[in-house]
Amino acid sequence: MMKIAVAIDGPAAAGKSTIAKKVAEQLGMVYIDTGAMYRAFTWYCMYKGVNCEDEAACCALIPEVNIELKPNRVVLCNGIDVTREIRLADVSFNVSFIATYKDIRLALVDLQRKMAESDSVIMDGRDIGTYVLPNAEVKIYQIASVECRAKRRYDENISKGIPCTMKDIEEDVRRRDYIDSHRDFAPLKQAEDAICLDTSDMTIDEVVAEVIRIIKDKTEQLEEK
Ligand code: CDP
Repeated sequence: MMKIAVAIDGPAAAGKSTIAKKVAEQLGMVYIDTGAMYRAFTWYCMYKGVNCEDEAACCALIPEVNIELKPNRVVLCNGIDVTREIRLADVSFNVSFIATYKDIRLALVDLQRKMAESDSVIMDGRDIGTYVLPNAEVKIYQIASVECRAKRRYDENISKGIPCTMKDIEEDVRRRDYIDSHRDFAPLKQAEDAICLDTSDMTIDEVVAEVIRIIKDKTEQLEEK
């Protein structure tokens, strides 16, 4: 397959990473979870005892943070395996503050663009199609109702042994959606050329099949040119 980039954006817990990971495996592409990078940065601020609402103090840590994405969704922050920690509720809460800080976004976007230089990638997040990779060959905006998203995240957390309640998850999802779509710099919104996929009534396999169909159609069109 020719080298392409696929951007998958959408609100919190829409199942983007589950889909992106499976599609990447089936098509032999590299999966880049940008949310994990914002989460790892947040974890580091908390680890250092810095208040996540203090923009200047958090941004001051930029030069000392080194985030690496490894196979199987393993995330390293300055060499420490934070794969599990970054999914805990306090990180989910604080990441919304961190994700509004422009200097942190610029540093992480720089890293994301470098990661997409050499391979075919599927990158998921909030601003991939609109800001990080505006020339991505395929852009998907994946949505689902708040109730579906909260239920999916609840099931995911319970299966990973991460304690939570449906009520708290639903509140967190609504709160993060609001903050993500109202921030000034690179907010969550559908790119004009993105295909919107409402996955509320779809199974994981159905969404994976649909995304693969969209990617194959697009690559065939490009190869014909
Ligand atoms: O998986 P979930 O939808 O819960 O979130 P995530 O993709 O792990 O992202 C965690 C947080 O990082 C989100 O709530 C966003 O505030 C932020 N984020 C962002 O601002 N831009 C991105 N490209 C990816 C994530």
